[in-house]
Amino acid sequence: MNYNNLYERSIRYPEAFWQEQSNEIAWYKKPTSILSRDENDYPLWFKDGELNICYLALDKHIEDGFGDQIAVIYDSPVTQTIIKYSFLEVKTEVAKLAGGLKSLGLTKGDTAVIYMPMIPQSLFAMLACARIGVTHSVVFGGFAPHELAIRIDDCKPKVVITASSGIEFDRLITYKPLVDEAIELAGHKPEKVIIFNRKLGAKVPFKPYDLDYIELIYNSKEANCVPVNATHPLYILYTSGTTGKPKGIVRDTGGYATALKFSMKNIYGLDPDEVFWAASDVGWVVGHSFIVYGPLINRNTTIIFEGKPIKTPDASTFWRVISEHKVNAMFTAPTAIRAIKKEDPEGEFIKKYDLSSLRTQFLAGERCDLATLEWYQKHIPIPAIDHWWQTESGWPMIAVMMGVESLPIQPGSTGKPVTGYDIQIFGENGQELAPNEEGYVVIKLPLPPGNMLGLWKDPARFKAGYLTKFPGYYFSGDGGYKDENGYVFITGRVDDVINVAGHRLSTAEMEEIVSSHPSVAECTVVGIQDDLKGQVPMAMIVLISGESMEHFQLEHEIIQLVREKIGAVAALRNVLIVERLPKTRSGKILRKLLRGIIDKEDYQIPSTIDDVSIIDEIKNALRIYFKDKRKEQKKTKP
Ligand code: COA
Ligand code: AMP
Repeated sequence: MNYNNLYERSIRYPEAFWQEQSNEIAWYKKPTSILSRDENDYPLWFKDGELNICYLALDKHIEDGFGDQIAVIYDSPVTQTIIKYSFLEVKTEVAKLAGGLKSLGLTKGDTAVIYMPMIPQSLFAMLACARIGVTHSVVFGGFAPHELAIRIDDCKPKVVITASSGIEFDRLITYKPLVDEAIELAGHKPEKVIIFNRKLGAKVPFKPYDLDYIELIYNSKEANCVPVNATHPLYILYTSGTTGKPKGIVRDTGGYATALKFSMKNIYGLDPDEVFWAASDVGWVVGHSFIVYGPLINRNTTIIFEGKPIKTPDASTFWRVISEHKVNAMFTAPTAIRAIKKEDPEGEFIKKYDLSSLRTQFLAGERCDLATLEWYQKHIPIPAIDHWWQTESGWPMIAVMMGVESLPIQPGSTGKPVTGYDIQIFGENGQELAPNEEGYVVIKLPLPPGNMLGLWKDPARFKAGYLTKFPGYYFSGDGGYKDENGYVFITGRVDDVINVAGHRLSTAEMEEIVSSHPSVAECTVVGIQDDLKGQVPMAMIVLISGESMEHFQLEHEIIQLVREKIGAVAALRNVLIVERLPKTRSGKILRKLLRGIIDKEDYQIPSTIDDVSIIDEIKNALRIYFKDKRKEQKKTKP
């Protein structure tokens, strides 16, 4: 197939193109309306179609005679467990859990929060909700009770489904007390908490709202799939935005199922029956699209991996999983490869495994630096495809579409626009920029199927955040440029969102938390470069006058505060005290300038700066801070 032809057709004739793709999935009622638009001219796909995504992921394959094929492999180096589930086994478990949810009164239109580690029961819970039309909202297990409470209050779940514990490297994380604390903090009170007890030794304090997952399944009948409208919200997935409040990205059902089926074949190049492994977490969009729904809809075997690229038990884990389960294509974040490279720079572990099944390595979630890409290619000479997308899009927007045409890879670029995405680079005034000029990455409407429906119960924020800056275009929040051949290079966020080890976080939210410390008069948080995690946050604070707390004590308190409120994933480690922050004459903090100074990059001093002498002040404070920090670390080393 020729990429250019396919791409042109998708942009010129979106309705015909996506109608054809929608025929690849089974509908209870085929849509007659392919593309319509709402009052913001935002696309709605397949509006009058009816389907059920759990049916597509499970029942359909059983009806077609593939019930015995392995659907899910649970590989958990942290508990030394491998369990394989056939499509039939998954369907039985999911249908029973769905029956249990139904018996609790959950029905189409209700919501459920899932807060679980990487165990098969998290996938079962998602599919069980989808089976009966309940909208799920999975919350990443690394978030603290405060974050969970915010999400509970926003999406008002009838139930929370959780597990007794997770394992981080060799640490037991007890989930149930975190859920109880979140419910206590939240204004909305879910009726029930369903707990999958892993029996790993975690305390599970009892509350009157508790229900045991196993008992619930044992006592319930299998529930059938409920047809839902194509625009029915399959899930709400919260992600970080430019304010302290996370955004509830709402996903439809019909457009999403169509887009995922299309992606598995055309982007990831997988035929049914093959094995796909996305080494991510169900708490992120990668987990939703390419651990759970995408591979199962395409009848691929998917892997639920409960481990890390390193230290579980070592940097060979990824290669062991690939060779043991004969993985055909894999997806991970560059940070995972950096972690492996650091532990095993010569790739000694790689040599020990037969990786012949692996055709393609996909990378996304953050910018992939050239050194990491080169290291990977040197040790594993298969196509390593960096591709770009977001929680909002739900599936890749820029990639080399491996199932269409294996175009040459341009290191540093995330490839070419995926079919359906008319990607353009705009200057500040909405003018299209010439090749190699850096600007805003925008997408001409209509976005193809599968993209966000909107923000949960917040249409005003949706419009303001994505559709207003450049009318007629979706504003991605990323910067980048295209070269003469149409390859797109993503240069990073243009807003207050940062990517820490592939985890999307909001500096605005951290600023709110840091500012709440009684010693802080003013603060800013910026993302700075980090060799392993790509970016990490750094806080700069101005103290209230008269404050005399010792610097490292204060730093410790602020770090703990952020950990307590957001969770360990926030990874704030550095807090710098300064006399004042660099600002424009109108009082805006110059974050970009600060990032440039800290990362020792070439930076431009904006003409709007209030007082240029502050730059030397900051440099001086940074020098002293890092010198003291090194001294302190030496002192505390055993
Ligand atoms: N539950 C509880 N805590 C969690 C967690 C979870 N699900 N995920 C992360 N954390 C904790 C970690 O244990 C760590 O805690 P600590 O500060 O007490 O040590 C903290 O959050 C920061 O985690 P992380 O940023 O992941 O750093 P790390 O040093 O633990 O691990 C990597 C580094 C590179 C191994 C790890 O980040 C990784 O595997 N990254 C891949 C990311 C990825 O796949 N992203 C998906 C997007 S595609
Ligand atoms: P998330 O919504 O968590 O998937 O994060 C999306 C953001 O991650 C994007 O807006 C980008 O800033 C960044 N991102 C994702 N993939 C890439 C990539 N391949 N290269 C550079 N940045 C990326």
